[in-house]
Amino acid sequence: MKRIHQIATSIVFINLVVIVQAKAQDLQRGEKIFEACASCHSLIKEEQSTVGPSLFGIFGRKAGAQDDYRYSPAMKKSGITWNKQTLNNFLTDPQKLIPANRMPFDGIPNLKDRNDLTAFMQVKFK
Ligand code: HEC
Repeated sequence: MKRIHQIATSIVFINLVVIVQAKAQDLQRGEKIFEACASCHSLIKEEQSTVGPSLFGIFGRKAGAQDDYRYSPAMKKSGITWNKQTLNNFLTDPQKLIPANRMPFDGIPNLKDRNDLTAFMQVKFK
């Protein structure tokens, strides 16, 4: 009985290790994908806007809400609050979700890419 318990415990443990490794890999992928954003959205200095607005603290914040950045009227009026789902929708095709916004980026068609990217952003920008 004890042996069975040990085996069961190690199976649970192995599964956990696999899940954690997969997550770390996804985050690494997400970081790589973020390189496409980093030319306009700084990763280095927290709270600093460059070409694009700072993305720090983006989760739970309204679109177009930072005073130190001049957003397009479209972004300000979108009424969107950023979370994993709205970011995912936006990044699929930015002009489709918020027509006439000024982010010069075509979008990320692949769902897994978007999921890994937003997972990375959630860790990095929370
Ligand atoms: C070529 C520059 C550029 C690239 C590349 C770019 N962005 Fe942007 N981004 C902008 C600009 C400019 C805005 C402001 C748009 C507006 O006001 O209409 C913006 C706005 C945003 C916003 C809304 C921020 C807020 O405060 O409401 C998010 C979220 C965002 N970008 C995420 C991303 C992500 C994630 C990527 C990479 C997949 C990316 N952007 C790639 C320039 C860029």
